[in-house]
Amino acid sequence: MSLRGSIAGAALLVMGAPGAASAQETLNLYCSVQVEWCQAVANTFSRTTGVRVNMTQKGSGETLAQIRAEAQNPRGDVWFGGTGDPHLVMAEEGLSEEYKSPKLEQLNAWAVKQAQDSKYRTVGVYAGILGIGFNPELLKKKNLPAPSCWADLTKPEYKGEVQMANPASSGTAYVAIATLVQLMGEEQAFDFLKKMHANVNAYPRSGTGPIKAVARGETSVSVSFIHDAVTEDLAGLPAKAVPPCEGTGMEVGSMSIVKGARNMESAKKFYEWALTPDAQRLGAEVGKQFHTPSNKSTPLPERAPRLDQVKIINYDFAKYGSSAERGRLIARWEKEVGSLPR
Ligand code: G6P
Repeated sequence: MSLRGSIAGAALLVMGAPGAASAQETLNLYCSVQVEWCQAVANTFSRTTGVRVNMTQKGSGETLAQIRAEAQNPRGDVWFGGTGDPHLVMAEEGLSEEYKSPKLEQLNAWAVKQAQDSKYRTVGVYAGILGIGFNPELLKKKNLPAPSCWADLTKPEYKGEVQMANPASSGTAYVAIATLVQLMGEEQAFDFLKKMHANVNAYPRSGTGPIKAVARGETSVSVSFIHDAVTEDLAGLPAKAVPPCEGTGMEVGSMSIVKGARNMESAKKFYEWALTPDAQRLGAEVGKQFHTPSNKSTPLPERAPRLDQVKIINYDFAKYGSSAERGRLIARWEKEVGSLPR
């Protein structure tokens, strides 16, 4: 297994430079982007401010579950990254702190909308486009065409070739379900998901699990964010991704302060720092992550998929980020799709 794979999910403790902050200043950071970016964020913030950072990386659904479980006794201070829907659920459930950053005016409209939708209990830090990932070498070996539309994923020729993450643990997979429901209507979307289920060989826990399996040649096709395929491609692995021909959805990767955070001052310090172009550059520069940054002054990485070049639905973040709707759709998927034999 690669180093990148083996450290995923790990926790990290970073000590700040001595003297830069008082010995007590600590930040418990929950992080739901890929671990390389999480580590870069933890290290750089710690080096810059002297704050000691305990970082834990987990998927978006898993982090929301942890924050809910810890509601009476919060252990995390800030949740950085992960798809926007569970951050909105966290806000609605009163699990995040209201905080209006003075940097909002520096952000793209989609990032500010996320703050408004949550009554200033979360904010957009990056955007990403959902797509179909594939391994061109493996497909060629199997004499299969590269998929280009959602409809392709239900074709019998891809039996056993497709992976999507599990929507209960992965925000990426939830964005996929919400996207299909918005594109096709709910009944057709569930018919589609049932048909695709016949082609699925696994539903990994993490949103990047499927594209990593594609890159390793373990499966040919995945439902993945397009920028996550770029990361694998740049690592020299055979992974590509395309926006589906019917149109697709997007995420507004978000950040929230945990309600009642024990280290509120460090949490706000981190929040402000994470919205600066210097911090937002780290994703591409150190983490090899090619999202669209939310601060308008952060240079758009050359390899970042362009939001304005893809047919993106008018994703209803408020609706699909509501606690009831998210809970209902995931439960329906578990009952009607995930539990079916393959
Ligand atoms: C990756 C992507 C992010 C996304 C995150 C969600 O890190 O690069 O854009 O927000 O996955 O992870 P999850 O495991 O919740 O699907």
